[in-house]
Amino acid sequence: MINSGKIFIKEIQYFYNAEVAERTNAPALRAGSPLGSLGSNPNLGAFWNIVKVFKYTYLLYKGVKMRLTSHPILDFEKKRGKKIKFTYNGREIECYENETIASALHAAGIRVLSKSSKLLRPRGFYCAIGKCASCIMTVDGVPNVRSCITLVREGMKVESQEGLASLQDLNPIKGKKEKIETEIAIVGGGPAGLSAALEAAKYNRVLLIDENHTLGGQLIKQTHKFFGSRKEKASTRGIKIAEELCKEVMENENIEVLLNSSVIGYYNENEYNLAAVKNNDTLVKIKTEKIIVSTGASENTLVFENNDLPGIYGAGAVQTLMNVYGVKPGDKVLMVGAGNVGLIVSYQLLQAGVDVVCVVEALPEIGGYNVHAAKLRRCGVPILTKHSILRAYGDERVRGATIVKLDENWKPVKGTERDIDVDVICLAVGLSPSIELLRQMGCSTKYIPELGGNVVIHNKYLETEITGVYVAGDCSGIGEASTAMLEGKIAGLSAVLSMRRDEEIERRREELMKELEELRRGPFGERPRIGKEKLFRAVR
Ligand SMILES: Cc1cc2nc3c(=O)[nH]c(=O)nc-3n(C[C@H](O)[C@H](O)[C@H](O)COP(=O)(O)OP(=O)(O)OC[C@H]3O[C@@H](n4cnc5c(N)ncnc54)[C@H](O)[C@@H]3O)c2cc1C
Ligand code: FES
Repeated sequence: MINSGKIFIKEIQYFYNAEVAERTNAPALRAGSPLGSLGSNPNLGAFWNIVKVFKYTYLLYKGVKMRLTSHPILDFEKKRGKKIKFTYNGREIECYENETIASALHAAGIRVLSKSSKLLRPRGFYCAIGKCASCIMTVDGVPNVRSCITLVREGMKVESQEGLASLQDLNPIKGKKEKIETEIAIVGGGPAGLSAALEAAKYNRVLLIDENHTLGGQLIKQTHKFFGSRKEKASTRGIKIAEELCKEVMENENIEVLLNSSVIGYYNENEYNLAAVKNNDTLVKIKTEKIIVSTGASENTLVFENNDLPGIYGAGAVQTLMNVYGVKPGDKVLMVGAGNVGLIVSYQLLQAGVDVVCVVEALPEIGGYNVHAAKLRRCGVPILTKHSILRAYGDERVRGATIVKLDENWKPVKGTERDIDVDVICLAVGLSPSIELLRQMGCSTKYIPELGGNVVIHNKYLETEITGVYVAGDCSGIGEASTAMLEGKIAGLSAVLSMRRDEEIERRREELMKELEELRRGPFGERPRIGKEKLFRAVR
């Protein structure tokens, strides 16, 4: 108890010292802030310091409270691993070895990770899966590291960035190089990539690459039981599906797994045709005969005033923080979007002890299933249809939001604005296929709203316009986990069949295609079915 008290006081000193350091070293931060004007007057300066000590004491208290200690489904004590320390802008942070830098900082009450490149606006994380670059920081001298997917290490030196990183910062990096040869390379280890790997590895050597520190994609944070096909593990919790698939992959001798590795480009000039960066310091050249891209999707955002404030997170990011690392995103949440994702994540927030102040939905009806909405209503969470967010407010982080009623033309109705007191705004407003790598490869795209936006042209065997390059899962058009798994299997077999003729494999692929078609005829598949039909018509 006495020790915790001492640590507590020490931590306050850290906060205090960090603040003083910030005041003396970073003039850009002071411009326009009370610190700027008060800093020159010693008496007022001392007064301001006292205010700051109170502020950081409060922040620290909140930081301590951010860690989940009990959860109805998850056991974080087992997951977290041992305690380690790293430094953030010179301040020592205690955390757990199995978490990312962004999660550890969030748990310590730190929301602002860096400042934006042009206007020096505060930046927190947004997607928490490595897709938006909102969380970039300098780590051990390496600039532009995505702190949301980089695990903490003992003694690691993490620093905020302001503006653009300098090329000179790259001097200390001693790049390492590796080469890997395989028959089928799969980029992305979510349900689609895992299923593709398992199917293809029955016949060929497979390399499965993921930029995360763990396989499983979006499944590793989904604690609810899945809808979809019974044959494809419906009614099983997402986390359980991930566990089963990952175990099978790790035990398969024909599959090599490369984690913490982002595939950054495709080159067809020489025999090594894919390039990946591993652990932020190693360039991996990959020579492969076939490529399956299953890079998933990124979360959409919305246009409203101050939509870049730290504390505005994608729904998937909130899930990652809560369900993967056991850290609460905040205390009071406004959920924007009442599709299945918005409703499910709202319920998961309640399970983690977070107050969901309300859910706003621009459409006249909720988009998700009534069963999820009913659970929320029973817990007293209002779901306001024909409502949206008008603005977020706060200085360096979200302090509240203004919501407003919409008319039939989706315009705000004057006089219906309401300010609500929240510290997190969670956006659950849809996903877009992650097609950056496919675009760089030279695949052309078509805009199909039912598939989530721009998708690359591909045929029913999931082959793109580039021979030997296949797509599967959300990056081929937004769907759900069952269809992602089926597409993964089909793409895996298509890659195999392009290297050998085998009637048995062809029959199996036909069966899987029929299963996929049936699934898309069901209640969960209408939009993707229409989307894929449009796409295949365009290919013919
Ligand atoms: C909140 C929420 C609730 C959901 N609920 C359900 C549900 O109840 N039922 C259901 O069926 N579906 C549900 N889904 C959808 C389901 O999770 C996705 O459809 C599914 O995960 C898509 O699988 P995927 O393999 O295509 O992509 P992902 O699971 O997104 O995996 C993509 C992988 O690719 C990796 N990657 C991306 N780019 C690169 C790169 N350049 N280099 C290396 N690796 C890369 C990523 O790290 C990631 O691991 C839900 C989704 C969300 C967000
Ligand atoms: S890339 Fe880290 S928050 Fe999006």
